[in-house]
Amino acid sequence: MLVTLLVVVFASLLATLYIQHRKNSRFWADRGVPHSPPHPLLGNFDCFFKQNVGIWMRDLHEKFQAPLIGIWVFRQPVLVVADPEVAKRILVSDSELFRNRYLASGKSDPVGGLNIFTIKDPTWSNIRRRITYIFTGAKLKAMHGLLSSKSKATVDRILQDKANNKTTEIRTLFADYTTDIIGTSLFGMQNDAVGTGDSPLRAVTRDFMKFDWFRGLSFYSIFFWPALVDIFRFSFFPRKSVDFFRKSVNTIIEHRTTNNLENNDLLDALVKMKKDKLDDGQEFSDDLLAAQATVMLQGGFDTTAVGLTFVVYELAHNPKIQEKLYKELIEAKKSKGGADLNFSDLEKLTYLNSVSKEGLRKYPPMGWLDRISSVDYKINDTLTLPANTPVYINAMGMHHDPQFFPEPHKFDPDRFLPENQQNFVPFSFVPFGEGPRMCIGKRFAQMTMRYLLSELVLSVQFRPLPGSPKPSEVNYETKFAFLMPEHPLSVEFIPRN
Ligand code: HEM
Repeated sequence: MLVTLLVVVFASLLATLYIQHRKNSRFWADRGVPHSPPHPLLGNFDCFFKQNVGIWMRDLHEKFQAPLIGIWVFRQPVLVVADPEVAKRILVSDSELFRNRYLASGKSDPVGGLNIFTIKDPTWSNIRRRITYIFTGAKLKAMHGLLSSKSKATVDRILQDKANNKTTEIRTLFADYTTDIIGTSLFGMQNDAVGTGDSPLRAVTRDFMKFDWFRGLSFYSIFFWPALVDIFRFSFFPRKSVDFFRKSVNTIIEHRTTNNLENNDLLDALVKMKKDKLDDGQEFSDDLLAAQATVMLQGGFDTTAVGLTFVVYELAHNPKIQEKLYKELIEAKKSKGGADLNFSDLEKLTYLNSVSKEGLRKYPPMGWLDRISSVDYKINDTLTLPANTPVYINAMGMHHDPQFFPEPHKFDPDRFLPENQQNFVPFSFVPFGEGPRMCIGKRFAQMTMRYLLSELVLSVQFRPLPGSPKPSEVNYETKFAFLMPEHPLSVEFIPRN
């Protein structure tokens, strides 16, 4: 009797799941959007631990060659957009209706869930407007001394490694540099990871860079199946770094408040937030403050370091581009009588900026932009997206689409030169996102990249190491969604006279 009952319950459960799956599988067909049939559990998300998500996005676009594609990420229908016009509406013109991302961290992870990358509106806008001012042009200009000295120290480290016959692993070196820059300029923490290869903050960023299976599962869940985060108590940041930030942010904030000290940085903005209240009268919790510091470090140090890594790696394999960049830089330096190039000089160097842009076109660290519609939204005459459907703007797909970027697999900075701008389709190039939810650290990151690139190119030549993979042969991390090399990358550095 009991066995019969169990069989009936089990069979009904299977039948319900099957009916649900059949109904869910018709989601895109019912709306006339191109799609492939979904797997009952993975949906179309077959890159899970097998392929980097950015590369998967690129391949998806190459396969369908359509401006709109319907996919299932696990069981969730998601619209993938590679149409710059639609991207513009979602990210900018109608951004009021797309304030939030689908990705989310759960209640089990207070610091991971409270940072401005994961948090929902209205807390998001409340925090963002209180922090944005730390990235104004004037503040960035004031970083000249720091950026210049750390860039020179990075070159010294390369020369020292060379003198000791040591191969420099470039992503680690650039992560040392970006950790120092963020630590000093945003938190007022003096660090010397570039000089020593280590520092208390570098221990934290090194932890961020460890992608084991559990962290991989945590990220996949946060980005692509947020409902599971609380069930498995996944966390956005490693627990050790959360403890570090909880302790140090509180200590620094208390020290500054008691002694009335100001350092004009992110922590000052957090001190002010602590004194103020949220718009609904609630206080900003200590975790909410620690969360903003943690996300700036996590969001900033590796994206920038990986951006630099790919650019330097491409330059090593493209000597003509490297020489063209060297000429631009040396002429700019000569025109200043040999003085160091500053924030405004670097901002004006068209080839330097084209090289950085081309690096971020070919290798955007976040290959897709995630939004969720708050209302039923009319995409076009035939497609209305039901409320709460996630949308991925396929940055990686558009960056590699020959109709926007001819010969997309070629590293060709000339395509970004001002004289070629007539070919440029707005919103087809979105490495930092766009609209009110775009990368808050965009100018900071660009400046950090420009300073180091110019110092490096002026001081050393880069060449491929014998036996090293060509850029097209580099493998990408599969345990983390952002685009980053799976293995250490190195180049040969030859000092210039
Ligand atoms: C080359 C370096 C970087 C790249 C390519 C990059 C890219 C991105 C992208 C694509 C987004 C999502 C934008 C969107 O959804 O429209 C984002 C968001 C964000 N980035 Fe960056 N980023 C970089 C560096 C930085 C730096 C240096 C910081 C901080 C110091 C930072 C902090 C953030 C934060 C906090 C967000 C969330 C913003 C929000 O939701 O309001 N990023 N970034």
